[in-house]
Formats: sequence, C-alpha cells, structure tokens
Amino acid sequence: MKSESPSLKNLVELLSYSKELGLGDVVLDGLTREEIMSSNIGEDIKSTGTAIDQGIDQNSPEPLIWSEAVSEMNYKSLEETANHCQKCALCEKRNRVVFSDGHVDARLMIVGEAPGAKEDEAGIPFVGQAGKFLDLLLASISLSRKNSVYICNVLKCRPPGNRNPLPDEIETCTPYLARQIALVAPEVILAVGTFAAQFLTGKKLPLGKLRGSTYSYKGVPLVVTYHPAALLRNSGWTRPTWEDFQLLRKIMD
Ligand code: URA
Repeated sequence: MKSESPSLKNLVELLSYSKELGLGDVVLDGLTREEIMSSNIGEDIKSTGTAIDQGIDQNSPEPLIWSEAVSEMNYKSLEETANHCQKCALCEKRNRVVFSDGHVDARLMIVGEAPGAKEDEAGIPFVGQAGKFLDLLLASISLSRKNSVYICNVLKCRPPGNRNPLPDEIETCTPYLARQIALVAPEVILAVGTFAAQFLTGKKLPLGKLRGSTYSYKGVPLVVTYHPAALLRNSGWTRPTWEDFQLLRKIMD
C-alpha cells in the first residue's frame, strides 16, 4: 500500500533528527513522476539523470563571442543583460527571469537547475516547495538563506512544464552562471541536482556517483548533492544529502 504524502512538518522533524535520516516511511516513495508533478509538492520537480553535452561548437563563432562578452561584465550589467535575455526560446514563455537571491558577498553559493512555476512568477529562485526544503536543509547546518547564501540556477528561465534543461539551453545560459561565480567569488559552492552538478564538475556522471567528494570549480571548493525536490521522491537519498550538507559545513568551518 502506498504511504501518505509527508507534510512539511514531517520533513522538519526528519531533519531535526539527523541520526534517523534516511527512513523510508516519510518521503514520497512509490509515487510516479506524473503524480508528483500534479501535486503541490511536485510543482518544482523535474526528473534528473540525463547526461548532458557541455561541448561548445568550436566551429560556431556565436557562443564564443557571447560568453566572452558576458565574462567581462560587472554585476549590474550582468543582471540587466540576463533580465532582458532573448538568447534562447525560453524567453518566449517565461514570465520573469530568475537571476538570483541572497547576498553577492555570501560565503556559500548554491546552484540549482532551473526555475519552476513559482520561481517564474516571483522572479526569485527556490521559492516553491523545493525551496522550503532547501531552507530546512540549510537550517540543519545553521545557515539561513537570508543571511548566509547566494542562490541561483543553471538556467535563468523556466523550461515549459518543468521539463529538463536542454543541452543548447545550458550552453547558452551558463556564461551568466560562470560570471556570477566569478563576481560573487564564494568560499564554497553547493550544486543541487544533476544538471548543476554535471556542469560544475564537468563530469557527465549520475549524481549518485558524483556526490560524496569535494571538487574544485576554478579553485572554489564544490560539493554536490541531490536536488531537494528529488528527496521527496526517493527515501534513500535523504541520508546521503544530510551527509553532503555535513561535508559542506565542515568546509565552511
Ligand atoms: N528548482 C531549482 O533547481 N531551482 C529553483 O529555483 C526552483 C526549483
């Protein structure tokens, strides 16, 4: 028999008792993607796990010129350029560009995948259920989004229907992310979800194989972990995620 969906309160309790993390009776085990996507909780969920092609076509001058221009922008121009971006088809259906939240001088930078419906409405990353869960995970290592973190995504615009980011969308959009990282210059980066983890590590491996190590993104320590929304689908990922947050805390201490 299928177990009841958890409330956010269940998840708070789950995180408060770290020793018990990973128990299978609290999360949305057994739900199909369609069921998750049609529920409130599933609003931000996108399936992950598809390998992406990061390669830029060296025969085409356009991506090089684009990324070079972006790589020289100051923060204000970067944000303004992103807010008016029409470099890919996602601009046609978006409501808002979702550039970032938090402090530009934060020690920790969190990189997610792409805005969901709530983020597209608000113009702020991680404001839906996945964001609430992310806030809880941060609280479990005594960090708050308000004070300590800069958050952004690999894609700045919502893929229709929360579908996975496409390789050419990632290629077009990531010069913004690369410049954000250079300008924010965080002490540590946390990549959440497959697309962020694969882009920042440069390795096209499943998240389960990537997590558990500390990487370097252009000299910045990088930890990767499961997307908070994915935890709602798979009970077995709760404990590894908690361990990843402990690793992050250790690097910051
Ligand atoms: N999921 C993400 O990866 N980013 C958001 O901003 C919201 C949900």
